[in-house]
Amino acid sequence: MTLEEKIGQMNQLDPSWNAEEKEALIREGRVGSVFNIVGAKELNRLQRMAVEETRLGIPLVAARDVIHGFRTIYPIPLGQGASWNPEMVEKAAGLTAGEAVSAGIRWAFSPMVDVAHDPRWGRVAEGYGEDAYLTSTMGAAVVRGYQDNGMAACVKHFAGYSASEGGRDYNTTWIPETQLRDIYLVPFRAALDAGAMSLMCSFNDLNGLPSSANPHLNIDILRHEWQSDALLVSDWGSGSDLVPHGLCADKKEAALRCINARMEMDMQGNIYTDYLAELVAEGKVKEQQIDECVRSILRLKYRLGLFDNPYVPETQPVAYSPEALALATEMVEQSTVLLKNNGILPLNIQHSTSLNSPYGFSRSFEALPRKELSTLNILITGPLADQKKEQLGTWVFDGEPEHSITPLMALKSFNLQPSTLNITYVPGLTYSRDKSTEGFAAAVQAAKKSDVILFFAGEEAILSGEARCRADISLPGAQTQLLAELKKTGKPIVLVVMAGRPLTIGAECEMADAVLYAFHGGTMAGPGLANVIFGKAVPSGRLPMTFPKMVGQIPLYYNRHNTGRPSYDPPMLIDSIPIGCPQFSIGQSSYWLETPTEPLFPFGFGLSYTTFEYGEPKLNEQMVNGKMVNNFTVSCEITNTGNFDSYEVPQLYIRQLSGELVRPICELKDYQKIFIPAGKTVTVSYQLTPEQLGYWHEEYSYTVHPTPYTSHQLWFATDHTDFQVWIAPDSRCLTKPVTISY
Ligand code: NOJ
Repeated sequence: MTLEEKIGQMNQLDPSWNAEEKEALIREGRVGSVFNIVGAKELNRLQRMAVEETRLGIPLVAARDVIHGFRTIYPIPLGQGASWNPEMVEKAAGLTAGEAVSAGIRWAFSPMVDVAHDPRWGRVAEGYGEDAYLTSTMGAAVVRGYQDNGMAACVKHFAGYSASEGGRDYNTTWIPETQLRDIYLVPFRAALDAGAMSLMCSFNDLNGLPSSANPHLNIDILRHEWQSDALLVSDWGSGSDLVPHGLCADKKEAALRCINARMEMDMQGNIYTDYLAELVAEGKVKEQQIDECVRSILRLKYRLGLFDNPYVPETQPVAYSPEALALATEMVEQSTVLLKNNGILPLNIQHSTSLNSPYGFSRSFEALPRKELSTLNILITGPLADQKKEQLGTWVFDGEPEHSITPLMALKSFNLQPSTLNITYVPGLTYSRDKSTEGFAAAVQAAKKSDVILFFAGEEAILSGEARCRADISLPGAQTQLLAELKKTGKPIVLVVMAGRPLTIGAECEMADAVLYAFHGGTMAGPGLANVIFGKAVPSGRLPMTFPKMVGQIPLYYNRHNTGRPSYDPPMLIDSIPIGCPQFSIGQSSYWLETPTEPLFPFGFGLSYTTFEYGEPKLNEQMVNGKMVNNFTVSCEITNTGNFDSYEVPQLYIRQLSGELVRPICELKDYQKIFIPAGKTVTVSYQLTPEQLGYWHEEYSYTVHPTPYTSHQLWFATDHTDFQVWIAPDSRCLTKPVTISY
C-alpha cells in the first residue's frame, strides 16, 4: 500500500460530503469507511467503487449509530439495563443486527458502556446505569448479539466520558487511576473479552488529556496491558477538537498528538487526510505508526468477512418481524420498574394484591377496595400517552414512529374479558414541556367520571441523549401541576413515567397510588405497558441507577464509601435546627441539611405484583484454617409468597470490612433473573472467586537516598481481611449477611 492508500483507510466519511467529492475520494482509495448511509443498494453502489475501481480493491465498512434497535426499536439502553436480563438484551441485539445488515450496515456505534453516576448527564439514556458489573454484562451481551449476526460492535466512549463535571456533556473529567480501573474501564475490558471488534475514543479530557490524544489509555492500557487488537476510532471530530480543548495550537499538531496516541481511524475530522503525509515527510511520524493503525482497520474488515463478501443482498430489508416485535414487547415488561403500588395494580379486577414498598411510599395508603365492576372506566391522560415518536427515545435514526404502538392505542384495544373497558382520553398537556393549563379542566372533568386515572408522564425523547443535559431533573412543564389537580378528584392514580433518565419524582410518587417507571420503551412501549397495567405480565425491572430525592444529592450512587462520619438517623434537618443553636450541637455527620444521604429509590430496587421471601444465606466455602483459599459458594432459598408467577432478581453484594484502602459500602458482584412460580421456592447460588473480591491498589513511596524520589505503584490485589456477603433484592435491603475471611 502507498502512504496515501494507508491514510485513505484511516478516513471515515459521512454523507455531509457532497456526493461528487465523496465518490471521487472513494474511487481514489482515500476512504476506509462511510457512515450514516443506509440502504443495501446505495451502499453496494459505493462499495463497487471501492472494490472494483481502486487499485487495491479494499472494501469499505459501513457504520451507523445503531443504538437500541434499527427499525424495531427496543427500550433505551438504560431501560435494557433495568431488565437485568442479558440473554434478552443479546437476543435483541442479534435481531437488530439482522435488520441493520439487511440495510447494508456492518458496524454499529454501540454499545455505550460508560458507567454513569449523574442523571443530569443526558447520555445516561444510552448506557446501562451506574454499576460497572451490570454494565459489563449488558455490554458483552450486545457485542455477542451484534457480532454473531454479522455486525461489528464499537464499544464507547473510551474512557471516562460519563464522569463529566456537573453532568454537562463533553465536560472535563477527573478520575483517579484506581477508580478508572475499578469502575470506568471494567465494562470496556468485558466487552473486549466478549470479542468486541472496535472501540471509540471519548470527547472528554481525562485528568487534563483528551482521550484521542491519550497514549496511557490507548497504548499502555489497551494495547500493552490488555493486548487488544480491536480498532480504535475517534469520535466525531474528537481529533480536531484538540484545538478548542486548548491542547494543540492547530489541526496539524492535533493530527500528530492523535497518531502518537494511536487513534487509528479519524471520524469525520479530516486531520489525518490533511496532515499525516506531511508529518511523515517531515520525519515527525513514522510510517510504522501508520501501519499499526491500518492493520487494525483491515483486521476489522477481514473479521467481518468483507474481503470475501463485500456486498449485501439487495433483497427486501428485514424489519419488524413478529419475533422482534414480541421480544420488544417483552423487553418493555421486563424493563419497567414498579416503584410503588398500594394494590391498585394490576388493573385486572379479577385479582387483588396489596404490596408494601420497603421505602415507605405505600405505608400511608390503604389498599383500595376493589370493586367487582363489569365496566372499568379509565381516564388516560398525560403528555406521553400517545406520542409515537417520543416513546422511541433518544438516538433513533432508522426507527419509524409510524410503527410505534402507543399506550393509548394498546389500552384501547386491550381485551379485558369478562370486564368491559371504557376508555376516555384527555391528554391535559400536549407535550412534556407544555406549561399551559388550558387542558386541565377537561382532564379533571373526565377524571371525575372515571374509576381510575392512568397518567403518562415523562420527558420527550429530545430531552435526553447527547448534549441533552439537564440541571433540573424534575418532570418538565406543568405535569406535576396537572397531577395535583387530578389528585383532588380523589380518584386513584397510576403514574407511568417514560423518560431518558432518573427523575426527581418524590412528590409525584406521593400523589400517585402506583408508579411504573418505563424509561422510553421503543416501538412496542404501548403493548408492553398495557400487559403490565392489566396484569397479563408482571413488571420485573429493577433500577439500574439510584434515583435521587433532589438534584443537590447528585452524584448519588449505591457503591459509595461510608465516610468516617456516616449519616446518623435521623439527621437534624434544616427546619428542626433550634434558632440560635450553638455550633457544636449539630453536624459531625455526613448528610445535607435538607435531606439524609438516602435516595428516593436505591439501585437494584423494583417491586412486583407478587412478594418474595429470602431465606438465610448458606455458605459452602472451601476453607483452610478458617480462611477462604479458593472459590466459595453462597446460596439461599427464595420463595414466591404472593399470587403471581414472576421473575425475581436476587443480587449478590459484598462489603470489605477493612483493608489497604477504604472500600464501598456494598458492591454488586453477580445477579440472576429467575422465574419463580407463585408458591414455589427455588435455591439460588453464586460462586465468588478471590479475584472478584479484589481491587486496584495504589501506593506512592518516597525515598530520600540516594536522591529524593517518589515511585508510584499500581497493582490489583485482594486484601486478606473479612467480607460481608449478601443475596438481596436491592442494594439497600442488606439484612442477612454472611461473613467470610480471605
Ligand atoms: C458523537 C457521539 O458521541 C457518538 O456516540 C456517535 O457514535 C458519533 N457522534 C457518531 O454519530
